[in-house]
Amino acid sequence: MLSLKSPAKINLFLRVIGRRPDGYHELASLFQTIDLHDTISFIEADKDVLRCNDPSLATTEANLVARARQLFKQKTGIERFFSIHLEKQIPMQAGLGGGSSNAATTLWALNQLCGRPASEMELASWGSELGSDVSFFLSTGTAYCTGRGEILQSFPSLEQQNLLIVKPSQGLSTPQVYGKLDFSQLNPQDPKAALASFFLGNPLYFNDLEIPAFQVMPELATLKEKLVGLGFSTVLMSGSGSSFFCLGEGNVSDLSGLQMFPTCYINRKPGHWY
Ligand code: C5P
Repeated sequence: MLSLKSPAKINLFLRVIGRRPDGYHELASLFQTIDLHDTISFIEADKDVLRCNDPSLATTEANLVARARQLFKQKTGIERFFSIHLEKQIPMQAGLGGGSSNAATTLWALNQLCGRPASEMELASWGSELGSDVSFFLSTGTAYCTGRGEILQSFPSLEQQNLLIVKPSQGLSTPQVYGKLDFSQLNPQDPKAALASFFLGNPLYFNDLEIPAFQVMPELATLKEKLVGLGFSTVLMSGSGSSFFCLGEGNVSDLSGLQMFPTCYINRKPGHWY
């Protein structure tokens, strides 16, 4: 049996470069894995099973864990069966990459259990067939991602931060947020300059998906203002929302109706999982 963390991510900055002919958007984003995580257990069995502690998440073949298991078998030609238990903690529709992380963790786990027929780079490339963010979770935890998000450049770990994830009860649909993008309102920041600035100790936090997300859910703009007023040094929506990450110190004692997760950055070493 193998039991693994399946970590969430945040986007420290996210630039949308433009729309692509395939309907996706060209991105440039610095991704970071965080210690807020689901837990997935894998055991070899005589048939494929998938169970989940959260009844709202379908455990059919459409589930990203089941799709990753299927893809692994198809790519490797290995005919073995696995019983998988998914313990969810990462909120869904939050911009935290929970489903993508679950898919990446499944590819990693099955590869371990089958004697590592694939390299980490192959797993990352297979992952991109399951979703734009899946490859990132096969990086070592800090990566500059371009293309749909699947082209990775790994970076060394960043300095640890006091990090709080705040998630309102309502979630957001990623395609709906992208659908509201106004290309005249994108951040003019050069993402390569932003990246260099990060590693020179002058981080710049921005997310081109905040404005369209605030249009879909206007309460999010109010929540951001409220969080900024609590004293945090940075408050930024993660991915396509609806969660925010807050850096620094803030007094959250009066906040109600929100899920809050104090957490930190995590990274992994090549050859090891989180
Ligand atoms: O790749 P994934 O299935 O995670 O993407 C979910 C949705 O997010 C896509 O259907 C698309 O609407 C949007 N998306 C996008 N451009 C990206 C990544 C995602 O438009 N680079």
